[in-house]
Amino acid sequence: MGKKLVIGSSGQIGVELIEQLAKDFGANQVIAADIKPILEHRTQGVEYVLLDVLDNEKLFKTIKEHNISEVYLLAAMLSAVAEKNIQMAWDLNMKGLFNILDLAKEKHIEKIFWPSSIAVFGPTSPKFNTPQSTLLEPSTVYGISKMSGERWCEYYFLKYGIDVRSLRYPGIISYKSPPGGGTTDYAIEIFHAAINNGFYNSFIAQDVTLPMIYMQDAIRATTEIMQADRNKLTINSSYNLAAISFNPEEIAKEIRLLFPEFKITYNPDFRNKIALSWPSIVDDSFARNDWGWKHDFDLKKTTLEMVNGITK
Ligand code: SER
Repeated sequence: MGKKLVIGSSGQIGVELIEQLAKDFGANQVIAADIKPILEHRTQGVEYVLLDVLDNEKLFKTIKEHNISEVYLLAAMLSAVAEKNIQMAWDLNMKGLFNILDLAKEKHIEKIFWPSSIAVFGPTSPKFNTPQSTLLEPSTVYGISKMSGERWCEYYFLKYGIDVRSLRYPGIISYKSPPGGGTTDYAIEIFHAAINNGFYNSFIAQDVTLPMIYMQDAIRATTEIMQADRNKLTINSSYNLAAISFNPEEIAKEIRLLFPEFKITYNPDFRNKIALSWPSIVDDSFARNDWGWKHDFDLKKTTLEMVNGITK
C-alpha cells in the first residue's frame, strides 16, 4: 500500500480530510497538495507540496516520488465562481479528472476519490426525494462538469476496472477553512454574520430549501466509502448523499435560539436561481443500503458546532 495524496488540500474539504486521514493512517502516509500554500490549519507531520493538477509532468513526478497509491481529487471550481469563469471551470474540473483517471489506467495509482455534487441535478429532476437515477439536465457550468465527470468515472470503471469512488455532496457546512465560492455558502456566511454583526443579508430567498451536511459527517462519508468493500458498491458513478435539508428562514430561526436579536434580510441574486434548479431533499437510500451511510448531525447539532467553532 502506497501513500494517500489529497489534491486541493488548502480548500474547505481538504483541510479537514487531511486531519482525518492523518489520524486514521498516520501523518507520514498523507501528502497534501494544492496550487496555493496554506499556513493555518496544517496537520502536523503531513508533507505539503505545491501542485497544479493540470500540470501533468509534476503530477506524475509527485505520485512517483511519494509512492502514492490513492488520490483524493478535491481541486475544482464551485458553482458560483464557475458561472463567471466558464472555460477555466471546465478545464480544471474535467482535465484534472482525466489526468487522474489516466494515471490509474496506466496503473500508477490504485484508488481514486472524486467528489460530485447535488449540482448534477437540474430543473427537470424531481425536487423532493430526488432518486439516485433520474433526469440529469444541470443548468450550471459546475453541474455540467460534475455530471460529465460522473459518466467518465463509470466509463473508466466499466472499461478499465478503475476503482473510483464518488459522492454527490450536499452543501457542506464548516468553519475551519472557508468554502470556495459555492451557492450553498450562505449557510456558512450566516453563522459568521450572526456572531460578528447580529445581521445577515441572504443571497438565497427565505423559502428555498437545499440539502446540506455538516463537515464531520461529510468527512466520515468520504472515509467510509473509500473503505467499503468494492463488491458491495452497486453505484459506479456517484452516490446520492443526504443529511439535513433547510431553508434560510429555518436556519435563522435555529440561530435565533442562541442569538435572539439576530436579524436576516433577503436579497436573492444569481445564486438563488442556481439554488432553485437544485433538489430540496435527496434520496440517499443506495448509500444507506450499500455501505451503511448514516448521518449524525441534525440542524440543531450543526448550529451548536458552528457557533462554538467560530466563537473559539
Ligand atoms: N456546495 C456546492 C456549491 O454550492 C455544491 O456542490 O457550488
